Amino acid sequence: MTAGPKTSTIEFLLNGRPVSVEPAGAHTTLLDLLREQGLTGAKEGCAEGECGACMVAIVTSHESGSAYHAVNSCLMLAPMAAGQEIYTVEGLSANGELAEAQKAIAIGGGSQCGYCTPGFVVSLWTEHYRPDRAGPCQTEALSGNLCRCTGYRPIRDAALSLGSAPGGVFRDRLSFPAPPVEDFKFEADGAIFDRPPSKVECLSIASSHPDARWISGATDIAVESNLHFRRWPHLVSLEAVPELLEFSETPDLVRIGAALSLSEIERRWINPPHLVRQWWPLFASVAIRNRATLGGNLATASPIGDGAPMLLALDARVRLAGPGGDRVVPLSAFFVDYRRSTLEPGELIVSIDIPKPFPMFTRFYKVAKRRMDDISTVAAGFSGDVDGSGRVTRARFAFGGVAAVPLRVYAAEESMLGERWNETSVERVQSVLESTLHPIGDHRGSAEYRREVAKSLVGKFCWEITEAAA
Ligand SMILES: Cc1cc2nc3c(=O)[nH]c(=O)nc-3n(C[C@H](O)[C@H](O)[C@H](O)COP(=O)(O)OP(=O)(O)OC[C@H]3O[C@@H](n4cnc5c(N)ncnc54)[C@H](O)[C@@H]3O)c2cc1C
Ligand code: FES
Ligand code: FES
Repeated sequence: MTAGPKTSTIEFLLNGRPVSVEPAGAHTTLLDLLREQGLTGAKEGCAEGECGACMVAIVTSHESGSAYHAVNSCLMLAPMAAGQEIYTVEGLSANGELAEAQKAIAIGGGSQCGYCTPGFVVSLWTEHYRPDRAGPCQTEALSGNLCRCTGYRPIRDAALSLGSAPGGVFRDRLSFPAPPVEDFKFEADGAIFDRPPSKVECLSIASSHPDARWISGATDIAVESNLHFRRWPHLVSLEAVPELLEFSETPDLVRIGAALSLSEIERRWINPPHLVRQWWPLFASVAIRNRATLGGNLATASPIGDGAPMLLALDARVRLAGPGGDRVVPLSAFFVDYRRSTLEPGELIVSIDIPKPFPMFTRFYKVAKRRMDDISTVAAGFSGDVDGSGRVTRARFAFGGVAAVPLRVYAAEESMLGERWNETSVERVQSVLESTLHPIGDHRGSAEYRREVAKSLVGKFCWEITEAAA
């Protein structure tokens, strides 16, 4: 696709065939667009990424070839599909024969009313064809799918019954690169969707259109659009900007492009600190992680976003670019008030930089109503270093859900310097938390509950790292 005038048409590969369609507007979801084409396997259950009834597969880059990624079509705006390759449940059978994932669910009794089934099939199919899969299908691949009547046992058993993906057209497809995400301009129903190919062009659009809004994975924005009917006159997608898709590691630094999906970061970051490994599975579902980005997570400045506590514990910095030039801000100074960051109008997050060496001990804890795929009540990222005699030389206590912004508790960190990890030092930290944390209570947890949880997590951290060192 080449740079050109705005169009109201989207061209992409749908179930292996080129299509050219006209969505009603820039805020039309891919789900609605597909259903208008008569592909009604994908369904709307929640319109907010929670149920997986709308699941479709998108072809993404993987090494020199491709992978199929399950994504929530209710959270993709239709113009995001331009130039891409999408498969719906209708396209998964080849030569009239059901895909193995379909057969396994049918034979195993994994479907009753069937509303959720196309979504489960797509998620399982992407896992079946996962290029680097060695063992059985991981049932975590179904983490973004809900079933309200069958029960999960037969669905899980169907997943575990699958062996290697069969040869044929779908496996052959994985040897070729995914379509690149390129420059694209779309306009319909009074709203523009721009996908510029460079940071300079993004900034130039933002300076000439102050009403422009950045959009990356859309896992937040599409929920606002679908459920709260928010509309933006000008959306500027960051998905085609090379600087925002960088991932690099040097002896001094890990640099994570702000528009890289969380799944892509996980794939590329070979040796992350322990808390990053703990953090990934606790962040939403596989399908959400296939689209969500760290740039979007931090830019929302949500007090309960999970990216911030993990990154604060690693002393991360954000690299920003805007009309006034480039700047680097420590993440600890990025959040200024409830859902407000230091981002100036027209400014964007380019990357998240994590300095090395990483701390010796790191842990991430997420306390929510449900263990997996839920919003945090309290999240904590902790880290520390000790010297040869076991005395603390660096401590980080970072929290989400205990104030209007994600924060580090400096007084608690200072109270640990020169001390050993033991009951006395933990109690000192806890008494600092007692006097400094002023959580906002809501239906997920009262202020008192959140404070107590934060204190207890410090005890857990101390116990875990002393056990690990023993
Ligand atoms: C079902 C579901 C489960 C979720 N679970 C979790 C969870 O467990 N933990 C959690 O923390 N979050 C969760 N989220 C929230 C969401 O997935 C994350 O906040 C995600 O990281 C947002 O990234 P995005 O690229 O999708 O952002 P988008 O929706 O594209 O954008 C979000 C905001 O950030 C701005 N923005 C995007 N990129 C940039 C950039 N580079 N520079 C400046 N501004 C930018 C946009 O203008 C917008 O205001 C969940 C969401 C859903 C729908
Ligand atoms: S409709 Fe529920 S996740 Fe999309
Ligand atoms: S089979 Fe009815 S919701 Fe899953």
